[in-house]
Amino acid sequence: MARPRVLSGIQPTADSFHLGNYLGAVRQWVTMQETHDAFYCVVDLHAITVPTEPDALRRRSRVAAAQLFAAGLDPERSTVFVQSHVREHTELAWVLICLTGMGEAGRMTQFKDKSAKFGESAASVGLFTYPILQAADILLYQADRVPVGADQKQHLELTRDLGQRFNHRFGDTFRLPEPYILKEVEKITDLQDPTAKMSKSSSSPAGILDVLEQPGPLRKKVMRAVTDTGSEVLFDEENKPGISNLLRIQSALTGTPIPELVARYEGQGYGTFKKDVAEAVAETFTPIRERTEKLLADEKELDRMLAVGAGRASAVAKETMAQVRDKVGFLPTL
Ligand code: TYM
Repeated sequence: MARPRVLSGIQPTADSFHLGNYLGAVRQWVTMQETHDAFYCVVDLHAITVPTEPDALRRRSRVAAAQLFAAGLDPERSTVFVQSHVREHTELAWVLICLTGMGEAGRMTQFKDKSAKFGESAASVGLFTYPILQAADILLYQADRVPVGADQKQHLELTRDLGQRFNHRFGDTFRLPEPYILKEVEKITDLQDPTAKMSKSSSSPAGILDVLEQPGPLRKKVMRAVTDTGSEVLFDEENKPGISNLLRIQSALTGTPIPELVARYEGQGYGTFKKDVAEAVAETFTPIRERTEKLLADEKELDRMLAVGAGRASAVAKETMAQVRDKVGFLPTL
């Protein structure tokens, strides 16, 4: 039997991924390549929904791709590509945009959050249609599963709705994807504001742990993470959100269940625990940073790997899009 298909994407909007991206998404991408037919893309079309410098976009797209390979994606087993290399993403997005209600798109909470930052009239129409382009990314590959963090749940629901609507109106075409969200790591929070999501766009530098950061600053940030009153290392999201976040991180990085960690640090205070978390973060990130640097040192080879990915992705995308074009009623090109 054919393997189930997985697709996910990440934006090249920063000079490094952060711990939330890594634990909430990228780590699952690496595991799933063992059991799935895997497609992962660097979503540069999504990145330009907010003002973006061309040189920064070029640099960050390569840095993003390099980090994906460095984190363990194997170009033989996973199709890693850049979204804008496969033209069908924008083509399918247009068809889906025409099936989406204005009200439906207006309910997307990420748009509301992001546009609030610019002021709604300054936000681009691209930002408004962002989730529909994401639906196109997923439906184009007939994905069964989409590994993401909790913040993407609503976009996945829209994807299913649009897929279903298309199928209903034009005949069965799209597979309806399931989100794949690991509860324990679905929302890694900001070290300085442990009730908010760790985020490229809204966390302060002290609140975010970057994959490509040096061990020194990483350790410092963990040691300075906001912790809660009291001194006991306990998992209590309501009263100890800071310590609970660090426990979730430590558990995910070391594979030790949270109750075991709580027992281990009983009576030891926050200091020892934080030191160990800092160590685990630095140990996880250092080899990824080193491999990323190596990959970036040979841009030609990296671009070649991405071209191979784009070729494989295009083959699948073209097949789906041919069906879509026909079902919608576009004339064939002779
Ligand atoms: P992006 O680039 O913001 O984030 C990439 C992935 O990281 C997850 N994530 C987190 N998980 C846990 N805790 C956090 N603090 C945290 N911060 C980020 C995100 O949930 C995401 O899985 N819209 C998507 C990109 C996208 C996409 C797609 C994803 C475009 N097309 C198709 C899946 C399928 C985004 O902005 O991700």
